Amino acid sequence: MQNIKDLDIKGKTLLIRVDFNVPLDEQGNITEDTRIRGVLPTINHALDENAKIVICSHLGRPKGQHQEKFSMAPAAKRLSRLINKEVKLAPDCIGSEVKATVEAMQPGEVLLLENLRFHKEEQENDVEFSRQLAEMGEIYINDAFAVAHRAHASVVGVTKFFEQCAAGFLLQKEMDYFNRSVGNPSHPLVAIIGGAKVSSKLGALRNLMDRVDKMIIGGAMANTFMKAIGYEVGTSRVEDDLIDTAKELMKKAKQQGVKLYLPVDCIVADTFDARADSYRTTAQEVPKSRMILDIGPATTMLFTEALENARTIIWNGPMGAFEMDAFSRGTMAMVHSVAASHALTIIGGGDTDVAVHKAGEADNISYMSTGGGAFLMLMEGKTLPGVAALTNK
Ligand code: 3PG
Repeated sequence: MQNIKDLDIKGKTLLIRVDFNVPLDEQGNITEDTRIRGVLPTINHALDENAKIVICSHLGRPKGQHQEKFSMAPAAKRLSRLINKEVKLAPDCIGSEVKATVEAMQPGEVLLLENLRFHKEEQENDVEFSRQLAEMGEIYINDAFAVAHRAHASVVGVTKFFEQCAAGFLLQKEMDYFNRSVGNPSHPLVAIIGGAKVSSKLGALRNLMDRVDKMIIGGAMANTFMKAIGYEVGTSRVEDDLIDTAKELMKKAKQQGVKLYLPVDCIVADTFDARADSYRTTAQEVPKSRMILDIGPATTMLFTEALENARTIIWNGPMGAFEMDAFSRGTMAMVHSVAASHALTIIGGGDTDVAVHKAGEADNISYMSTGGGAFLMLMEGKTLPGVAALTNK
């Protein structure tokens, strides 16, 4: 994969694919701008080289319709503030009007194209749409790690129409950190996998089982493993169709010498509610009428001890229903344990990211990925289509 710094971009028109798919509140204000800040090194480098900078992104899922609430306008405003420079917003991402605007650009100017997903052809990886989009630049730069798992026109199709394609600094950094954590890690490597469903992380669990020294499983997905062992899990969320899979994974762990850690105690509640009646119980004593909503203090201690000799830790998915304070202690305690560790620590996935910020520990994590689905796909051991498109060039 070529890097932007390997190319001569002086005065050239760059089409930079970014992922400005950021959360907005009801009034359309950006509530979290990590993904915008993440591409500043690439944009600043392009500014230093006096390039003409054309940026494109998607926002939300407007399903091929031009919908104002999915406009890139708030992102243009935020980027402008961050680079202290005017960022114009084009009315569309393709077409003669936009092309004329691009052709009139001066070196050092920045233009943000309107939401790519206002055209259904973007997600269809349509060849003609890709060709028209490619008219907006001389060199293509992909700095959109978080959408690199989608084989969409602006990520994959467009690369066929450029002689020069390269990764921006964010995409490069994401790939480098991932390779350091899973591809070629310092051992012991410990994976912490949580979140709601085994099914959504099955590929990741299988792939990581071949690579890690220890695997810690928490969150609602642990319930399926606990049921597979034969424990009562009450009214907890369980994927009954994956009980055999859970058994197979536990067997695989044993065969490969991977130490598998599951909750030994938990916080149980009568309903899924912040004010529910809740208490701690051992994993063996969950009542039939209760649901598990967090790991308990003994589990936190066990998991924390498991991290002690780690040289690399990769974490995806919370340990409980942490969005409710009453069930956030397990996740918060794990954030602090990971942050205090001397290992290389890599965290991916939206929810885990939120938990780390909530705990105020973002600065104490080696790397926080900007990707959710893309990070998961890497954990599954697959190649990201966006990265493959650059590598094949
Ligand atoms: C994300 O937020 O994970 C990316 O921007 C991809 O968005 P998508 O899931 O709508 O394709």
